This record gives sequence, C-alpha cells and structure tokens, in this order.
Amino acid sequence: MQRKRLIAANWKMHILPAGSCTPDSVYRTRANVDVWVFPSYMDLHSTQYHGLVTGAQCGRAEDDGAFTGDISMQMIADQRYHAVICGHSERRRYHNETDEMIARQVAAALRTGLIPILCAGETADQHDRGEAEDIVRKQISSVRMDPAVIIAYEPVWAIGTGKTPNPSDVEKMHLFIRSLLPAPEKMRIIYGGSVNGKNAASFFAQPNIDGALVGGSSLKPDEFRSIVEAA
Ligand code: 13P
Repeated sequence: MQRKRLIAANWKMHILPAGSCTPDSVYRTRANVDVWVFPSYMDLHSTQYHGLVTGAQCGRAEDDGAFTGDISMQMIADQRYHAVICGHSERRRYHNETDEMIARQVAAALRTGLIPILCAGETADQHDRGEAEDIVRKQISSVRMDPAVIIAYEPVWAIGTGKTPNPSDVEKMHLFIRSLLPAPEKMRIIYGGSVNGKNAASFFAQPNIDGALVGGSSLKPDEFRSIVEAA
C-alpha cells in the first residue's frame, strides 16, 4: 500500500523560523507530501492563520480541571488543530510523563478528533544493552492503538546529537513496530533523530520509513526544504 509521506517540523521551545508564515513558505503542505508544523503554544494561532497544517507538541488528557499551566486535548481540538505529539522523549524526561499518562493522552486526542503522533524510542543505555525492541514494544503496546495513530520512532540517543542509526536498522525497527499495529499496512511510521538535508534521502529509500519528525533541521528553512524534497 502506498502511504503518503509525512514531514513534521517539531519546533520545540524555539521561535518561529524566518519566513514560515509567508505565502511561499517551505512549511506549506504539498499535494504529494504532508508537511505539518508543531510550534510552541504561543505560535499555534499564527501558523494556523497563515494556512500551515498545525499541531500541538503535547496536551493533557483531562478535558478541564485544576492543572496550572496545562492545556487539554479538548482545548487543542476546539481550536481546530490537526494533530498532537504524544510521548516525546523530552516530555517523558523533563515532565515525567509515563506510558500510562501517554496512553490517556492518545485516547483523549482520538476522542477529540486530533491525530496523535506517538513517539517511542530507546535511550543510549537501553540501545547498548540490546533492549531497543523491548522498550519500543512496551511504549507502543501500553497505548490502545487505533489506525488513526501515527508512530514516530525516535531513538533518544539520536535526538539533537548528530548521531543517526543506520537507515537499514531503522527499517528493521519500523518493520518490528508495524508487526505490533492493528492496521499495519495503512499506518504511517516516521523516523526522528538528527534528520537533515543530507541524510533524509537515505531514510526515505527504505520502504517502511514513511517520513520524518524533524527537530533542529526544521528551524532552517533551506535545510527543511531539502528534507521535504527528498520525501
Ligand atoms: P532533532 O532533529 O533535532 O534530532 O530532533 C528530533 C526530535 O526530537 C523531533 O521530535
């Protein structure tokens, strides 16, 4: 089955890249490649207003309540955003998000009509101990899976480090992940971790890598353009 490629720009806690909201922005989605942007909450409205397909970087599972500083999936959905990232390793690490919390976030995202991008991936130590598949299996199987979910395999040791796994090893992991999914041929599995304009094509040459979740390189419009063109 032909799965449409997705290039997702995770801008983390950075300001909008120059030119992102102009009519000729490289961050606009294309007929043959989905391009979605994930700005900080403060910029969600600007990117959406300017016609970029916009999602949130995280959201809370409860619809409302006394949770100072948090934003619910329901609130994100009410503003007609498209997607939400769930379980990014930086949320797991800095906000102590557990598999159980992430499972509830994915369920809330689905219930409110958002497309969840579920992140999974092993740390450097887990990788060295040969535990990558076990960790990823646990992270994915703790979520009640739905064909609408997109999986992002992001090995933690590759994020922001310039180190990348071999594309054929990523392909193997994506095949393993696919074997855990309810609609394996239909669901998109994207890769994240130090993707740039030079290495993107080598990932996209693998049949089970359906796109990329891009951090640092998504802040540089020319670099990002090369990634989208490679897709
Ligand atoms: P980098 O592309 O900067 O390695 O970040 C990847 C990432 O965390 C995307 O969510």
